[in-house]
Amino acid sequence: MEFSFDINNIFPERITVLDQSLVPGDKSKGRPDLQSKIASVIDELGKASSKAQQLPAPITSAVKLQSNQHSLYLIKDETSNGGQGAGVGFLKVGYKKLFLLDQRGAHLEAEPLCVLDFYVSESLQRHGYGLELFDFMLQHTQMEPALMAYDRPSAKFLAFLAKHYCLTQSVPQVNNFVVYEGFFLNKSVGPSRKGLPKKVEGEIKPYSLMEREALRGDQRVGQWPFPPQVGSSPYSRSHSVGSSPSRAPPAQAPPQGPAPASGGPPTPHSLLSDHLKARRTSSLNRSQLGFY
Ligand code: COA
Repeated sequence: MEFSFDINNIFPERITVLDQSLVPGDKSKGRPDLQSKIASVIDELGKASSKAQQLPAPITSAVKLQSNQHSLYLIKDETSNGGQGAGVGFLKVGYKKLFLLDQRGAHLEAEPLCVLDFYVSESLQRHGYGLELFDFMLQHTQMEPALMAYDRPSAKFLAFLAKHYCLTQSVPQVNNFVVYEGFFLNKSVGPSRKGLPKKVEGEIKPYSLMEREALRGDQRVGQWPFPPQVGSSPYSRSHSVGSSPSRAPPAQAPPQGPAPASGGPPTPHSLLSDHLKARRTSSLNRSQLGFY
């Protein structure tokens, strides 16, 4: 993606890591134009990403980056546009508190590093830029792909993960995230965060009340403790995601997890167990559980 200004001047490195401050280091001092140019690059790539994923609005923008503790890795092609360089793509990651189900259907609370958005310009896809970005991020965060969670990955991204990192065996979840088998090895809690700042979050938002859902403005999106309803919103995001596990019909109900607490006010965990039981037996509906 080309801009009227010199990309190589703004982003000297091939890959630049951007965070809330937008401008890395002290570079913005004496350069009032720098921040607006960086913001413009992020905004344009964010728009292109949302278009590629058929989202109704961008989930990545300079304003959003400034208001979240996410990290954005931006890659350029230094040779294009007459030597001014061009923005090629980006990878956005951040920590999220999630409730996840392991292979046995037991639920655990984790706060993994999540891929939140990932985009390479159409004409440059399948040229290795995505892998370069992803490998850079893994090195920067000292993270393993199997220990990460993926927010509603597209079919292209699933193919990417399978090809480059042999991630093929996903563990069914009731939210929009995809995690793979290795995620749950030796773990009773989520992987510790490394390299990125801890976001102080209030209550846990188990079903990823995230930008993507908010953007859809879809009233059918599930409310904790319920996932989106089968046959409604899970399939509404795009036609491009094809066989994405997140779009497939909900997986077979996992084996019985820990028994919900009897008596007393419901906890998120007991509500989830209740919900899973309800899905297994079909003997309860939402209103019977008293959440509407
Ligand atoms: N169809 C199927 N698989 C694709 C693909 C496509 N159009 N484009 C990339 N891939 C997967 C394949 O596994 C491919 O290997 P192959 O060519 O041997 O089949 C591999 O990615 C190529 O790796 P690489 O060149 O490093 O990836 P990339 O630069 O194309 O970046 C994406 C990968 C997903 C970031 C890029 O395809 C993209 O921006 N897609 C559109 C936006 C999107 O879906 N983002 C994911 C958000 S959840």
